[in-house]
This record gives sequence, C-alpha cells and structure tokens, in this order.
Amino acid sequence: MKKILVTGGLGFIGSHTVVELQNEGFEVLIIDNLSNTTIDVLDKITSITQIKPSFFNFDLKDKTAVQDFFNSNDVDGIIHFAAYKAVGESVHIPLDYYENNIISLTNILQEMKVRNLSNFIFSSSCTVYGQADELPITENAPVKPAESPYGNSKKINEEIIADAVKAHKFKAISLRYFNPIGAHASAKIGELPIGVPQNLIPFITQTAAGIRHELSVFGSDYPTPDGTAIRDYIHVVDLAKAHIAALNRLLKNQQKNNYEVFNVGTGKGSSVLEVINAFEKVSKTKLNYKIVGRRSGDITAAYADTTLANNELKWKAELSLEDALLAAWNWQKTL
Ligand code: WQD
Repeated sequence: MKKILVTGGLGFIGSHTVVELQNEGFEVLIIDNLSNTTIDVLDKITSITQIKPSFFNFDLKDKTAVQDFFNSNDVDGIIHFAAYKAVGESVHIPLDYYENNIISLTNILQEMKVRNLSNFIFSSSCTVYGQADELPITENAPVKPAESPYGNSKKINEEIIADAVKAHKFKAISLRYFNPIGAHASAKIGELPIGVPQNLIPFITQTAAGIRHELSVFGSDYPTPDGTAIRDYIHVVDLAKAHIAALNRLLKNQQKNNYEVFNVGTGKGSSVLEVINAFEKVSKTKLNYKIVGRRSGDITAAYADTTLANNELKWKAELSLEDALLAAWNWQKTL
C-alpha cells in the first residue's frame, strides 16, 4: 500500500483529499499543527472512510521535528497543503506569511533531497495570474505581480519548487486552484472559517443560517454582464480528486516534464449575483444582501481553461455550482 504524506491534512481541502486518498487505497499520514482547524476533523475523516489516518501534530517550521518525522516514516509521495491562506490577513502580517509558507516548504524539500524522495504535489492558486489578460486562463498565462503577500508566497513557492526539481532528482506538480467551495456529501467535513469569513460561500451560508446579518456584495460596477465579479467555483471533492489524478501521474512516471503546472477549475465562470441566485434556489431561502463598494485587490474575472488537466490528468470537474452550494449549506446546518 503506497504511503502518502498530506501536510495540512486536517484543513478544508486537505481533509477532503485525505478521504479520496483513502478511498483509492492509499495509506495516509497527516502532519498538521492545528493552527487553522480542529482535531475532531481527524475523527470525522475516520467516520467517513472507517480508516484512521496516522496523525502527527507539529509545526513544519520546526526543522528538527520535520527531520524526526522523516527518520521514522518513509513515504511514496507528498501533498503539501499546509500554509496560511487568508488574503486580507496576509497584508497585515506579511512576515508571518512568508516565514510560515516558505520555511514549511523548504524544510520538506530539504528532507526530500537528502532522502531521495520524489512525487511532490503543491497546493497553488490561480491568484498567481492576477487579472489575466485573456479568459479562460491557460497555464501559459503570465504570472503577474501578486496582489497580496499570500499570493506572493504561492508564486515564490512555485519558483522554489521549480529550482529544486532542476537541481535535484525529484518530480513535482503544482495545482493552481480556482475557487474551492462546498463540502463532503456526508456533511461531516467542510470549510471551517475561524472568525468572520473572508470568502464568499461561507459568508453566504452563515448569513442564511442567521449567524451574519447580511452579505455585502463587493461591487456591482465591474465590466461583466451583471456588474458583479466572476470566479470559477470548483467543488472541493472535484478538487480533491484532481490531487489523486496528479499523484497517479507521478507514481506511474507519466509526466512530460519533472515539474508541471495544472489549472484546476470547472472552466465555467459565475458572478456573485449568479452564485446568490443559485444558493437561494438550492437552499429554498431568501438571502439578505446589499451591494457595497469594491473590495481592494479584487479582480474582475477569472475562470480556468481546463484543457491541460482534462487531457493530461484525465481529470474533469463533474459536480455543479448548485451541487457545491447545496453541500455547503448542508454542512453549515450541522455547525
Ligand atoms: C469571491 C468573490 C469577492 C466575500 C481568494 C484567494 C484565493 C483563494 C480563494 C485561498 C469576489 C466576492 C466575497 C463577500 C463578496 N483563497 N465577495 N462578498 O477573492 O476570488 O479568492 O479566495 O486559497 O487564492 O485569492 O475569493 O471568496 O473572497 O471572493 O462580494 O463577503 O466574491 O469580491 O468577487 P477570491 P472570495
């Protein structure tokens, strides 16, 4: 049974990926410092798959702890989710973001180098494209100056991985996520925003649940059909399955290059108002919202050209925006 290390495996995307890895027959080891999640996610994963992942609670910035882990555990592949990821927060504490997101990565890559480990998958983001000049966005779109230290840390980490792959023997894939939303069909795992949600979907579900008074729609004067900004919202279970497809490509040595990048989205753009209407339809509730000014740093539109992932990873998003919104709503109702 192949052993896969999942860092940040108790987080939103990490936990859904752990479930899919276990469904595929992989043995999963999780490292998570619980800085942005809770330990009960481990039991929830176990209750879904009936298999308890091995769990190691330490911070990846602790080089000795990382070395100790690899001294005691050999793995066939690594999926690296662990990172701070709040765009707005990163503007206020950039040094914490750079230190955490970069040191965690280099500590792992150093261990891969000295132990000749390979098969590394990195959790990247479409945020590296900024406002792309052309839509849909392909992997050849230029990477633009980042709008936030969070986005910059993703850009820097991709460059670190590319240089490490060139200098050493291991293989890697970066997956550039568009907007991950939704929750597992069991409603046992989902997005756990701590504090006031920054992202649209958790804010919508918390408003519908009466936790928030009303949703503010950030801007209706964008050059889009209904004036609100457009994003490519991908169901987190589809996103998790893309990691399995990327891992199998590495394990079966099917790569065309030792370092590859794939956009992971649905290929479909939805505006904020379209998301609100879809949510009202699936939840059979009326959402309380108001239009306000634009949020600084937001782009007008982003949605993926998914040709490369479809053809090379043999992966395609199968779940719809409505599926994801209903799953998010069912998850919210359990909280
Ligand atoms: C989506 C749309 C907002 C909240 C960011 C990161 C990306 C990834 C996902 C981490 C935008 C609008 C939002 C609200 C609103 N994060 N909105 N009212 O900004 O596209 O992407 O989160 O990995 O890397 O860049 O996602 O959900 O914040 O916003 O109107 O209360 O919803 O303006 O148009 P975003 P988002």
